Formats: sequence, C-alpha cells, structure tokens
Amino acid sequence: MFSTPFVLTFSLLLSLPILFFLAPRILPPHPTPIPISPSDELDDINLFNNAIAHSSTPPSSPHPSKFFHLSSKNPNLKIAFLFLTNTDLHFTPLWNLFFQTTPTKLFNIYVHSDPSINVTTINNPLFKFIPSKKTYRASPTLISATRRLLANALLDDPANAYFIVLSQFCIPLHSFDYIYRSLFLSPTFDLTDTESTQFGVRLKYKSFVEIISNGPRLWKRYIARGRSEMMPEVPFEKFRVGSQFFSLTRKHALVVVKDRTLWRKFKVPCYRDDECYPEEHYFPTLLSMADPDGVTSYTLTNVNWTGTVNGHPHTYEVDEVSPELILRLRKSNHSESYLFARKFVPDCLGPLMAIAKSVIFKD
Ligand SMILES: *[C@@H]1O[C@H](CO)[C@@H](O)[C@H](O)[C@H]1NC(C)=O
Ligand SMILES: *[C@@H]1O[C@H](CO)[C@@H](O)[C@H](O)[C@H]1NC(C)=O
Ligand SMILES: *[C@@H]1O[C@H](CO)[C@@H](O)[C@H](O)[C@H]1NC(C)=O
Repeated sequence: MFSTPFVLTFSLLLSLPILFFLAPRILPPHPTPIPISPSDELDDINLFNNAIAHSSTPPSSPHPSKFFHLSSKNPNLKIAFLFLTNTDLHFTPLWNLFFQTTPTKLFNIYVHSDPSINVTTINNPLFKFIPSKKTYRASPTLISATRRLLANALLDDPANAYFIVLSQFCIPLHSFDYIYRSLFLSPTFDLTDTESTQFGVRLKYKSFVEIISNGPRLWKRYIARGRSEMMPEVPFEKFRVGSQFFSLTRKHALVVVKDRTLWRKFKVPCYRDDECYPEEHYFPTLLSMADPDGVTSYTLTNVNWTGTVNGHPHTYEVDEVSPELILRLRKSNHSESYLFARKFVPDCLGPLMAIAKSVIFKD
C-alpha cells in the first residue's frame, strides 16, 4: 500500500512537467506595463489617417510620384531627422553645428520625447516637438513612437523625402551636404546597387533598412508572443530582424503609417522580455514584405555589436573618441560611407565638438 504522503509527492512531481509545458498558456504575460491603451491607439489611428489623407497628394505638388523617383532637378527635397529619445538630447550642440554646415535649409527636425522628462532642446526653434507618449523597452511602444514621428513629418512638410530615425546617442559622421548628396544625388553611394543609376543619374530612391533573415535568436523572437501568434500574416520565413535606426523614402514612410495588418501582430505583448524587441522586427519585416526591391537591406547608422551586454551595443567612452575612430566608423562594406553612428556616452560631447570641424564635418 502506498502511504498518502508518497502519493502526494509522486503526483506533485508528475505535475511539474505538465505545469512547465502549460505555464506559458495559462499564466498572464510578464508584468510589463500593458503599454498601449485603447485611447492611445485611437489617437494614433487618427493621426495616421490624417497623414495618409494629406500625404497622397502633397499640396505643393500635382505629381506625388515626383517625390519618389527623381533627380537633382528638384532642388527642394528635404531630409526629415526624427529623434526618438527618453532623455535629454545629449549631442544637441554637435547637431546644431551639423545643421549649420549647410547654407540651405533642406531639412526638418522632429523630436518624440518621453513626456515625463525635460528636454532642454525644447527652446531650440529648429527642433519640432511632436505630441509624444511614454515608451518602454521590450514593448511595441517604440514602434508607435517611430510611426508617430513618421506621420508628423509626412504631414508637416510635403518636401520631406527621406526620413531618418535617430536617438539621443547618435552622432553624424559627415557634414549635412555630404549626407544630402549621398542620399539624393550620388550615383555611386550605394555599392550594392547598379540598377537605380543610369548614365550617372539616380533614377530611384531606396530606403536604407537593415534586413537580416538568419539571426541566431530569430526563432525565439518569433515565438515570443506564443508559437502561432504571428500566423497567418507573418510566417516564420518572412520574419526579419534589423536595426530600428533606418532611413526611409517618403513612399516607405507611408507604407509604415498605413500598415494595420502587421501592427495587429506586433503590438501583442511578449511572454518574455529578454527576447522581445518588437521595433527590431516590425520595420524590417514589413518593408521586406511590402517592397523588397525598394530597400537596400543595410543601414547607414554604424553600431558596434562586439561585446554586446544585455541587448545593448558597445557604448563609446570619452577616451575612445579620436579622429581615427570617426574614420573607422565611416567604413562600410555596403555604401561609400556610414553616415551616422551610435552609441556614445553623453560625456563624449566635448571630445566630439573638438574634432567636429576638423574631422567629422570635413568630407
Ligand atoms: C522638469 O522641470 C520642471 C520645472 O523646471 C521641474 O519641476 C521638474 O522636476 C523637472 N522634471 C525632471 C524629471 O527633471
Ligand atoms: C567595438 O567595440 C569593441 C569593444 O566591445 C572595441 O574593442 C572595438 O574597438 C569597437 N570597434 C570600433 C570600430 O571602434
Ligand atoms: C566587410 O567584409 C569583410 C570581408 O567579408 C569582413 O571581414 C569585414 O568585417 C566587413 N566589415 C564590416 C565593417 O562589416
């Protein structure tokens, strides 16, 4: 005869694997803040619809397509710089110098900053602060913030033709004019593409988005919301990873703002935080599905993943900043140069300012 304690222990032991197997199904997701409330979602939908309605036919242009394919003939195309931050913008003095390197104002600057922080840049008339909401790591709020930036920039100025996402830890690696020429004019900038150029003239603009289809943790990231949560819209073969710091054409900014299908999938909270970086998947997956030939699959923002800690890339310290570092960071296998880099600790501002004119903005 079995004693009762034995039976109890035995059945407890037996139930352990069952619990382990079922836990993800019956336990609620991690206690991360449920980030996107219905009212926030509604605000966004209204903003995006507004952007879609007013961007398809820019008021200043009867031919919207001229914003997507065209050449040096149109002197008025602008770059929208989109800063996504949850602290002060540490490198504002460097960016101010950067924007002063050009005599023409072919740019706009938009900032999405966490509403709970004070950003000193708020007094700088060049920087336009858009209505912002709180963001959280490992949550789809970072996707929402980026889409808000794109929608506001689409709405604000029909001449915005490239949209570049940056953070408070990003720095420029060249002068404004170099970056402008690389994006809009240079027939040789993109080393991976010969078709968009003919007779030394750019015929087509592409978005610069890192798109990787074989990352080592891709499967874990794919099932972070549940094994079949992404189906049927996003089968695993279409799931991609890449940097959220990208440069999009106006056409692709609209694709992102218009999307409802993939957003419904990617806004679902993850079960585990350590495999949850929705913003690193949403944009590369969406754009590679929507227009694979219109994107380059690499980014223009250099980031150093050697010795990564806790999902954070290498962060450059004061004693690492030097002219040689800037030259090294520019080197790319995909384009003539990287145009931006991250991440730098705020104290790097001084040493960076010291080499700004003699190195960074000297092309
Ligand atoms: C922001 O500034 C206000 C007014 O100067 C101050 O009361 C508040 O404590 C500041 N908040 C933070 C997070 O620094
Ligand atoms: C990248 O980071 C590693 C340390 O994690 C450092 O040794 C290396 O020099 C960095 N690369 C560049 C280009 O600075
Ligand atoms: C460029 O490609 C070479 C050869 O494939 C590789 O060794 C090097 O690490 C690459 N450099 C960068 C910056 O990706």
